[in-house]
Amino acid sequence: MSLLELNDIKVHFPVRRGILFDRVVGHVQAVDGISLSVEAGQTYGLVGESGCGKTTLGRAILRLVDITGGEVVFDGTDLAQLPEEEMRRSRRRLQMVFQDPLGSLNPRQNIESILAEGMAAHGIGGNREERRERILKVLDRVGLPDSALARYPHEFSGGQRQRIGIARALVLEPDVIICDEPVSALDVSIQAQVINLLEELQEQLGLTYVVIAHDLAVVRHISDVIGVMYLGALVEEANSDDLYADPQHPYTKALMSAVPVPDPEVEDTRERILLTGDLPSPANPPTGCRFHTRCPWRQPTRCDTERPVLTDTGNGHRVACHFVNEIASGELAPTSALAPELLGPGTEDEAPDTAAATDGDAPPKGAASA
Ligand SMILES: Nc1ncnc2c1ncn2[C@@H]1O[C@H](COP(=O)(O)OP(=O)(O)OP(=O)(O)O)[C@@H](O)[C@H]1O
Ligand code: SF4
Ligand SMILES: [Mg+2]
Repeated sequence: MSLLELNDIKVHFPVRRGILFDRVVGHVQAVDGISLSVEAGQTYGLVGESGCGKTTLGRAILRLVDITGGEVVFDGTDLAQLPEEEMRRSRRRLQMVFQDPLGSLNPRQNIESILAEGMAAHGIGGNREERRERILKVLDRVGLPDSALARYPHEFSGGQRQRIGIARALVLEPDVIICDEPVSALDVSIQAQVINLLEELQEQLGLTYVVIAHDLAVVRHISDVIGVMYLGALVEEANSDDLYADPQHPYTKALMSAVPVPDPEVEDTRERILLTGDLPSPANPPTGCRFHTRCPWRQPTRCDTERPVLTDTGNGHRVACHFVNEIASGELAPTSALAPELLGPGTEDEAPDTAAATDGDAPPKGAASA
């Protein structure tokens, strides 16, 4: 059994209106039916555009949001069903590291106090001295000096603050750390250092990670398995190398085609898929395949009416697309939104949406942010 298993998780936020009577007028389907497994000691990378529900899924695992449906099975126990007090105790084993370390660290507490707070709440360390000893060990692990203890969050750089955020999780000796955009607020030069630190800690301590990012490059480096989210659902999942070598879902293909390739020759000739249109609202998601409003391979049958389920296409590579085989074999050609030189001779004028598709080298809308 996997250490962490999500079964058909749904998080729907009620939308309320009314001054006198607070009426629920609809729901934001932030997460709508996600099933995935995370193996002990491994890293599961979760990618997708802004607003697709990554953070909500991470928070659902820790039950920091109300779960509308489904199971979060951690080490054999369904957290979704646990009484609040037992859930509070389980949170020691599941920690979260946030994107914005400054926003998540109380500016009026020094580092010792910030780190000791969670320990005291979970009954770790008998007294102040014992806690301090443990905090110093953890600070050393994350590359911070002993002198950090008495200092305040604003006295540190962005990268150091993220190390403090990681230390705050580590002092509780968790099994799983959910890292929500752990490096996206940091300079590129610092990003690699923090990612490397996370990897070292995983090796030393046998940690299990869920790493959330909109940047495919960040997730690739650190992940064993990657799940691609679109509008509250997984559209593709595979081990990291397979996903990069052979992206099969049209949305993943579009995301991948926006990642620059270092080799200039490959960069000039590679396929670019330009998505048109905005991400639809999760309060009113498209029928059928949620990606059909932007999919270059959309077909008049099934795509608008029937929701595709994640299906194994071989070696555990899972894809949610009715036409994945036809797209892979080339039997189905994209109807729009490919850069014109890729549509073949004479097709430029026939392609709908060419205004968006001929956008030169501009990154695809949406894909640029993912
Ligand atoms: N408490 C809430 N109440 C209502 N809607 C919410 C709430 N939290 C999130 N949402 C909505 O749920 C959807 C998913 O949000 P979420 O923050 O999970 O996305 P995300 O993938 O983490 O985005 P980003 O990359 O910008 O962090 C969004 O449409 C968001 O507006
Ligand atoms: S099911 Fe249809 S609309 Fe959805 S990704 Fe596949 S081809 Fe595109
Ligand atoms: Mg988020």
